[in-house]
Amino acid sequence: MKPASNFTLGEGQPLSDPAVSTTLPTFGGGGLVPLQDTLLLETLAHFNRERIPERVVHAKAAGAWGEFEVTHDISHLTAAKFLQSVGKKTPVLCRISTTGGEKGSPDTVRDIRGFSVKFYTEEGNHDIVGNHVPVFFVRDPVKFPSVNRSHKKHPQSNTADANMFWDFHVHNPESVHALVHLFGSRGIPDSVRRITGFGVHTFKLVAPDGSFKYCKFHLRSLQGVGNASTDEATRLAGVNPDFHTQELFDAISRGDYPSWGLYIQVMDPEQAERHGLAMFDITKVWNHKYFPLIPVGKMTLNKNPANYFAEIEQAAFSPSNMVPGITSSPDPMLQARMFAYPDAQRYRLGANYQHLPPNQPIVPVKAPYQRDGAATTTSNYGATPSYVHNGSTRHGIRSVSASTAQAVRHDEWLRGGTTLGLNEIPDTEDDYVQPRELWRRVFDDAERRLWVSNVAGSLDGVSDDLKRGVIEMFGRVDSEMGNMLAAKIRETARL
Ligand code: HEM
Repeated sequence: MKPASNFTLGEGQPLSDPAVSTTLPTFGGGGLVPLQDTLLLETLAHFNRERIPERVVHAKAAGAWGEFEVTHDISHLTAAKFLQSVGKKTPVLCRISTTGGEKGSPDTVRDIRGFSVKFYTEEGNHDIVGNHVPVFFVRDPVKFPSVNRSHKKHPQSNTADANMFWDFHVHNPESVHALVHLFGSRGIPDSVRRITGFGVHTFKLVAPDGSFKYCKFHLRSLQGVGNASTDEATRLAGVNPDFHTQELFDAISRGDYPSWGLYIQVMDPEQAERHGLAMFDITKVWNHKYFPLIPVGKMTLNKNPANYFAEIEQAAFSPSNMVPGITSSPDPMLQARMFAYPDAQRYRLGANYQHLPPNQPIVPVKAPYQRDGAATTTSNYGATPSYVHNGSTRHGIRSVSASTAQAVRHDEWLRGGTTLGLNEIPDTEDDYVQPRELWRRVFDDAERRLWVSNVAGSLDGVSDDLKRGVIEMFGRVDSEMGNMLAAKIRETARL
């Protein structure tokens, strides 16, 4: 007799073998399946429901657990408890993604990498949800779905479409700075262990005395930065579409733990008032000469997920997850993101997504006015009142944290007589200054030639009109840039 297995049905009833369904044998083999075969029904029905919506952007990713350790004291800058003392350690979860591709798309493509970190602090979760280049394509959040659609698939052909990509960018040229980054060598990393994570937005650090400074976050790889050639990346995309995911997983499995240094740039409110539009415009960076990097700590990834779906796919990162001592700024993109992520996660993971293991804070949660909803797995606050200002809490409410209240103070930079107006910051000469610096001072000759060849390659199949538009846009960055691009395109006889 076969030994009894320790498998069960979904509600625990013992099973002799999960690999065999029950049938009424018929002549000639095969059999009739009865509806009483709960094993078969459960197995098929659950399979039909095992997909959840993938992230609308950043669907493909690698992820791992780790630890953050404070290496430098910045307690004079922020009240955030996890940043208070040198040597203090905080568990983290990190997810590094491509942006445009679907969940099954190749890793080694030219794209912006997402860089998400969730810090499980004693004051709840704090997330940095950044990218691997310091600037973004647009500064008005209403354009976010459009820029992404132009990078994804054409509505008719369902294939990537270079005309659509360049049509968007030529007509929304505030993206020119991000494009100079994207088509440089960093546009295709050789490993997700060798990329930089930029918080990109301007945030605020609020000190214990309520004073604040504006700040930007940077996570710099201690492995250095490494990039793949376009040819090698194209080859790898076919040979192993999960190349980066596997490379990170294998490194952590063999104990070769990647780490990143956390740095901040800070700006006084008075300096900010002189800084002009670039302050809350994520198509611009802060010059490191005037706002140097200040070291804060080190993040090390040292544990692979035990289960990818449970721990990485179900992770919900959001720029709205902030602890006291770090707050948002009036950057309209940041404000919009603080709505968009939890909204996406309620749709993708359900109303109780915060109860899922990777999203649970390490501190107790007391939110009794958020209860019930699909798939409630907690004790759901038992008998405690479900309405605010009830007799049991009326006398126990503390005042709102001072830092939260302070945080809003400087945001009201409203000019006298201000009325609601269009958010648009028009595209001006200012948009070409920083990409020009990048081209002239940061890129060397080899990088410039590589950039030109990468852009020219991406223009394959693009209409002549649009090619002229692209040459003109980059010609505004630097006439040499436009000329080199035009020459390269002519060389390949495509204009
Ligand atoms: C208005 C602008 C933006 C909107 C509306 C937006 C919206 C979204 C949404 C809906 C998701 C999917 C979230 C999920 O399902 O869990 C997402 C993912 C992501 N976005 Fe954005 N995004 C914006 C701009 C940005 C910017 C500027 C950055 C980088 C600085 C960024 C970095 C990321 C990253 C890294 C992810 C993946 C998060 C993860 O690892 O799960 N996004 N975005």
